[in-house]
Amino acid sequence: MKLSKENILKNLKNPGAIRPDCVGEVTSTNMLVKQKGLSGEPEGYLLVAESQTAGRGRLGRNFVSPANGIYMSLLLRPSCSPSEALRITPVAAVAVAEAITEISGRRAEIKWVNDIYMDGRKVCGILTESVLSSESGGLSFAVLGIGINVSEPEGGFPEEIKDIAGAIYEYKKAPENFRERLIAEIWNRFMIYYGNLGNPENAKKYRALSMMPGRAVTVLSDYLSGQGRKATVLTVDDDFGLIVRYADGTTETLTAGDVSLKLRN
Ligand code: BTN
Repeated sequence: MKLSKENILKNLKNPGAIRPDCVGEVTSTNMLVKQKGLSGEPEGYLLVAESQTAGRGRLGRNFVSPANGIYMSLLLRPSCSPSEALRITPVAAVAVAEAITEISGRRAEIKWVNDIYMDGRKVCGILTESVLSSESGGLSFAVLGIGINVSEPEGGFPEEIKDIAGAIYEYKKAPENFRERLIAEIWNRFMIYYGNLGNPENAKKYRALSMMPGRAVTVLSDYLSGQGRKATVLTVDDDFGLIVRYADGTTETLTAGDVSLKLRN
């Protein structure tokens, strides 16, 4: 079944705030929504694609985007400072984890800072790309992109991600209208958090959904070289920084964007 714009609209609590557009295969919804932003499209435009040929991930990586997933990008024009806008990604992670749990009935958790895991496997990635205004130096707009593996692709996940990637429905087909209900539930929740980005309750919710406390990790400050330092996660602070303790007893607060994390067993 193809994605239905009507079914998304039917499940949105405030359909005026989001204007969905459902399409087949595209290069990258983030890239296309960025073009919309540059041509003056107002906040709330949502592009949802069946698949992507050039899905973009964090740190310049590719995001594998086969059919039957959810690949969507929302255009935002936040009136806050660029530093406050850094909260968009973590509150989106809260909205996605809560929505998946609500609609699928199975617990989804957040791996700092912007991955959603179920049963130890990554089922969703989030990438927010911001465009600054050349005049004011402030934020002109942001594109919030979310990619979700709903069902396992035919033939399984590609070799390079098969040890990490999972799907909400590993072995069976998603129920009818699952994708549309999930899409609407994500935006119903996100728009509340986005309306009050500075609310300390957001970080509380993030902590409650975090799979990180107590986890052994390798902190990769240089992702490409794979160089890393072993640490144990303590908690996530109110600014969504990850507090870790190294083997020598020192602690550090990691900021998203600077580092990448590998889970250890
Ligand atoms: C990551 O896990 O590194 C982030 C992945 C973000 C993927 C989504 S899919 C929809 C949107 N369009 C893109 O090209 N990327 C984001």
